Order: sequence, then structure tokens, then C-alpha cells
Amino acid sequence: MKDYKASTYGDTYAAVYDLWYGEEDSARAKNLSDPEHVARKVLELAEAGAVLELGIGSGRLAIAIDKMGLEVTGVDSSALMLDLLRSKHDAKNISIVLDDMSKCSELEDNSYSVVLIGFNTFFNLTTRKSQQECIQTCARVLKPKGKLIIEAFVPVPQVTDHVSVRSMEVDELLLDAVKVDPINQTISGQLVKMSTAGNQFYPYLLRYCSPTEIDEMAVESGFKLVERHQDWLNNSFHEESSKHVSVWQYL
Ligand SMILES: C[S@@+](CC[C@H](N)C(=O)[O-])C[C@H]1O[C@@H](n2cnc3c(N)ncnc32)[C@H](O)[C@@H]1O
Repeated sequence: MKDYKASTYGDTYAAVYDLWYGEEDSARAKNLSDPEHVARKVLELAEAGAVLELGIGSGRLAIAIDKMGLEVTGVDSSALMLDLLRSKHDAKNISIVLDDMSKCSELEDNSYSVVLIGFNTFFNLTTRKSQQECIQTCARVLKPKGKLIIEAFVPVPQVTDHVSVRSMEVDELLLDAVKVDPINQTISGQLVKMSTAGNQFYPYLLRYCSPTEIDEMAVESGFKLVERHQDWLNNSFHEESSKHVSVWQYL
């Protein structure tokens, strides 16, 4: 998608993110995890150390983690998402950094016990190179034996270009138009909100990859896979699982 930048998703979705993903809503993404479950898992793995969330967004996960008493830092490439996060009283203890998550230039080495990349956010990096760079950055900022947690969907080959209805009201229709490029492993899409007030466009671009491909990138950066489940409640991952929550340890 021409002109799509690292800040495009966040800057476009900031106005609707909490409405669509923060609470029960018909447009809510499938497979959205309960922040409480995420926070409990992070608490278990952090062993009271500091946590870094990449692609923190409006703080859906980070605020729940902060409430567990852990020190939380969040990086995001969208100034508008971070303005939304800063406006929340519950976020006052969270350190916020505007940067690309593949770089995290301001963050010091060997500082965090856990790096979290939740809710498919790793796929927001749209090339294999930037994904690999991000995992190398995680290795740099983690303490020895620190953990990288990634939550992502498992790609299915049968997904092809399509349009689906996300929600329909008397005066409003939300459509999801999806274009798949299996060679570059990308999904470009637009949520299109059509209403009597006009149409609004919410673009997204993902580079999807299999759990095995992430394992390869993690191993190249010095990580070892230590856990893989199909959700945050430690249910077993199997070949039918639609998503994975994976934990790698930095050696
Ligand atoms: C799907 S949202 C997830 C937000 C939050 N983690 C949650 O679970 O609700 C993805 C977030 O990643 C941010 N993002 C996308 N590309 C990024 C990049 N290259 N560097 C840093 N943040 C990025 C977006 O701005 C957005 O806030």
C-alpha cells in the first residue's frame, strides 16, 4: 500500500481504537485477549523486573500490567496513539517512548526482564528485515535470561482477497476489505466505515509469518523457545490453533 508508514495504523485508528478493541463491540477483532490474562502471564515471567511493551497503543495491555505492580515502558510509532495513552489517568506511571519498535534507539541495553509484543503487533512490521531487526533490538534491551513474548495469529494458506461485513446498523456499515500477497506474506486491508456522514478509511498492512519463521529469527538473535501455548491461559498449542503465545529466553 503506497504511502503506508509506521505511524499510519496508529494515527488512523487512535480515534476509534478503544471503542473497537477496548470493550465489547461488534467490530471487535476475533481472538482479542483479556488484558487481565495477559498481565498475569507477564507477572509470572517478569519475576518483579521491568517490562517493555512494543506497540503499546492506547495501553489496553500495559495498564493492566502496571496494575500488577510492575514497572512498564511502552514504545509506539504513532504520536496520536501515545497522546491517547497519556490522556488516561491509569497510565500516569507508564514511561512512554515515541519510536519505531524495530529500533528503540533511546532504550538502554540490558534493562528489561520481559519484552511483550501482543495482539499481532509484531506483524505491523511490514518486512522480514524490520522483524529481524526488532528481535535483535529485543535481545539488546533484555537482561540476560530475559523473556520475549509474542502473541500472533497463525497464518492460514486458504485466506485470499475478500470483503466482509464487520458490523451493520441502520445508519452505519463497517466493511473489511482484504488483499493478500502470498509471495511477500503481506495482508493489506481497509476497514471502511460508511455512514450518512460520509466514508472513513482505516488502513492496515501486516507482514504475517508462521511460528516457525519467528523461531528462526529468534534463534538467529540468540533466543531459545521456552514456551508455546495457544492462549494466555497456557492451553496447549496444536496444529489447529489459530494463534500462539510464545516465549523465548535470551541466553
Ligand atoms: C494492534 S495495535 C496494539 C496496541 C496494544 N498493544 C493492544 O494490544 O491493544 C498495534 C500498535 O502498534 C503500533 N505500531 C505499528 N507499527 C509500529 C512500529 N513500526 N513501531 C512501533 N509501534 C508500531 C501502532 O501504532 C499501534 O498502536
